Amino acid sequence: MKMQFKVLGTLGLCFALNFASVAQNSPVKNIGDVTGAEINGQQVNFTTQNAHAEVTVYTPSVVRVRIDKKELAPDFSYAVVARPQQVKAAITQNDNEVSIITDSLKLVISKKPFAVTFYTPDGKIISQDESGLTTSWVNENVTTYKKMQDGERFVGLGEKTGGLDRRGSGYTHWNSDVFGYRVDQDPLYSTIPFYIGIHHGLNYGIFLDNTWQSDFNFGASNNRFSSFGARGGEMNYYFIYHKNLADIISSYTALTGRMNLPPLWSLGYQQNRYSYYPDTEVYRIAQTLREKKIPADGITLDIHYMDKYKVFTWDKNRFPDPVKMNNRLKEMGFKTTVIVDPGVKTEAGYGVYERGLKDDIFIKYADNTNYTGEVWPGWCHFPDFTSAKGRDWWQGEIKQYAADGVSGIWNDMNEIATWGQKMPDNVIFNWEGRKAAHPEARNAYGMQMARASYEGFRKALNKRPFILSRSGYAGLQRYAALWTGDNRAEDDHMLQGVRLISSLGLSGVPFTGMDIGGFTGNASVALYTKWVQIGAFSPYFRNHTGVNTKSAEPWAFGEEALEIARNYINLRYKLLPYLYSTFYEATQDGLPVVRSLAINYTHDAKVYQYQNQYLFGNAFLVAPFAGTDAYGTIYLPKGKWYYLYSDAVSNGNSETIVKLVNTSIPVFVKESAIIPMQSLIQNTTEKPTDTLNVHIYKGDVNNSFVYYEDDGETYDYEKGSFYKRNISYNSAKKTVTFGKADGSLASKFKYVRLYMHGFGNAEIKAGGQKVQSKTEFISFINPVSKFDPQGVANVAEGSNTQTITLPNKSSEFIINY
Ligand code: GLC
Repeated sequence: MKMQFKVLGTLGLCFALNFASVAQNSPVKNIGDVTGAEINGQQVNFTTQNAHAEVTVYTPSVVRVRIDKKELAPDFSYAVVARPQQVKAAITQNDNEVSIITDSLKLVISKKPFAVTFYTPDGKIISQDESGLTTSWVNENVTTYKKMQDGERFVGLGEKTGGLDRRGSGYTHWNSDVFGYRVDQDPLYSTIPFYIGIHHGLNYGIFLDNTWQSDFNFGASNNRFSSFGARGGEMNYYFIYHKNLADIISSYTALTGRMNLPPLWSLGYQQNRYSYYPDTEVYRIAQTLREKKIPADGITLDIHYMDKYKVFTWDKNRFPDPVKMNNRLKEMGFKTTVIVDPGVKTEAGYGVYERGLKDDIFIKYADNTNYTGEVWPGWCHFPDFTSAKGRDWWQGEIKQYAADGVSGIWNDMNEIATWGQKMPDNVIFNWEGRKAAHPEARNAYGMQMARASYEGFRKALNKRPFILSRSGYAGLQRYAALWTGDNRAEDDHMLQGVRLISSLGLSGVPFTGMDIGGFTGNASVALYTKWVQIGAFSPYFRNHTGVNTKSAEPWAFGEEALEIARNYINLRYKLLPYLYSTFYEATQDGLPVVRSLAINYTHDAKVYQYQNQYLFGNAFLVAPFAGTDAYGTIYLPKGKWYYLYSDAVSNGNSETIVKLVNTSIPVFVKESAIIPMQSLIQNTTEKPTDTLNVHIYKGDVNNSFVYYEDDGETYDYEKGSFYKRNISYNSAKKTVTFGKADGSLASKFKYVRLYMHGFGNAEIKAGGQKVQSKTEFISFINPVSKFDPQGVANVAEGSNTQTITLPNKSSEFIINY
């Protein structure tokens, strides 16, 4: 017996020795055990066998983890704008672990090896390092492995194709020019390395702040872990825990910044194609929109407006007098947006190029010669937007567009796109003086271009500019709206686009859109009409198509399609008070305009099955389907839902099969919704009537809505020039209350008219007095009568409307029902 033990013991020892030597020679280098831990206020600094690490409490709900093989470098980020808050955190350590307790979470860092586990305050595991794999390197490629929790789902990660739930998939961030991409292609144009994990009724966010090519694995070809890592730089991630998913988005956008209020006009309909020229063609488009009574605010000029694609020039034959043209468009109620590409043609005598050379602002090879790559204008140099000098130079050039009467800047090809796509690694970017080579700098370049355009054009216009970008990095929402690039005129692309926009919303980007109608190819009538209907319920609403495609304006698909498009564009304009207030909300708490159902119904498994459905703001549930579908199944989550076009009520937690028609898209209104609307206008310079129409939907839950208004174009709101009031509905007390008006601006509306949905002929009283009451039919969408005699059921039967002058003080309405 004794002998046997001895043999086993020796074998055991041999095995241990062997294992250690394998580990030492392993091509995978693990972080190893903690060799020192020092508590410094809210931070703990570690040395381990193979690395240095730092864990910092950022807020009670946000913890930052940094790990590197070498000593941690001075801190720098293009994404993060927040500094750590002063937080009450109890930090203790013993031989085996360090424990950190805040008001919102608990975290334990084991010392053998260094491995992090996050707990709820009552001890449930939220996320834990995979104990065997923890954090490791393969050469310079660093990865952190988290144990895959039972039933864990993953949402977010920005502009990523695939399903809403990313479990079972892997993704790469490497900003790419992907003309006519496949619906499952990865990577696309932008890098937002932020995702949300969901399991056991819990949810958390992880933001990897590293601009190198990064890789995420949510159980793709493995059943053990989820992981995130980058091909260089440090492991640098923020862990965010809240009970509600919406609060995770708020904390993430507190870290990386929130969008600024957009100009009101940019929420209107925008007409584009590659390309409208010459100026007479632009007038024809503008004129036709007006004649056909299609409300619109924007005309966008694509690359043919330039002289041989040279940025900051006009083709003088096609556009002899841009100032005159833009002024005339403005008189017609249109704002002009122009495309800009980063490539500056290397052509002697071209002023922009000469000034760029003189100011020495281009990105460079390691031997200090300017990098030259080929794109639209031919061989080009590229401004270095990662230096203040480069951005200042760009701002000096871009201001001319403000003088030319341009209102919006469309930043394209900023991945950087070059023909051949393979930009060399040995190109060096200034990186605010620290210098970074292409593999580190690429993913941040587009965002820094959008930043230069935003900062420059804001100054030059002295008003809110509209800035659009194709490429970006986490935090780009501070500068620009993002659109999803060169999609295809195909049904599955339209639905994929909906998911891209939902995912971007989960990842902190509220102002997003896709090419309505599709960029490559030609849409069928059925596809086009569906796409416009979805467009009306998108944050950025632009119709665009490629250079060799058929015309794709709303009138190019026949009379019926025109009427359908007009109906939905009209609805969009009537909804502007609701939409603008929803954008205001995004500026305050980071919540997106298009809200994946995962935000409000996170733990409802059905939501991941009905992944194309989304909420538009807080009130509308939109159910998109392919143009070819005759029937569709819709899932309504918990609560009561009103069909937008008939006020028919359905109970939630239910799946319904609906017959689909080309004239409308299924939209439902959440019970207790509060929706402010205005009369129809043809563009945002036109004044609506003096009555704000507030729609209230009877429900069993209380609700409130922050109504927000300002001049829609300047930054005077920063000095208090706005009109804001809380509108609330209390279902038990049966009241609608308009809170006290806040801000120094008077509302553009003199009267409020209440539209009471689902209340029958209830009497309404204010201050003990019955207020004027009449029954009126309201219609959200006109029937397309000529073509569809039944139209869509569009009448809210028995709605009560109340018109009242609203004092600025808090006013309560009592509904007797
Ligand atoms: C890129 C853009 C597209 C644009 C085209 C020409 O492909 O993504 O929207 O129309 O370039 O500028």
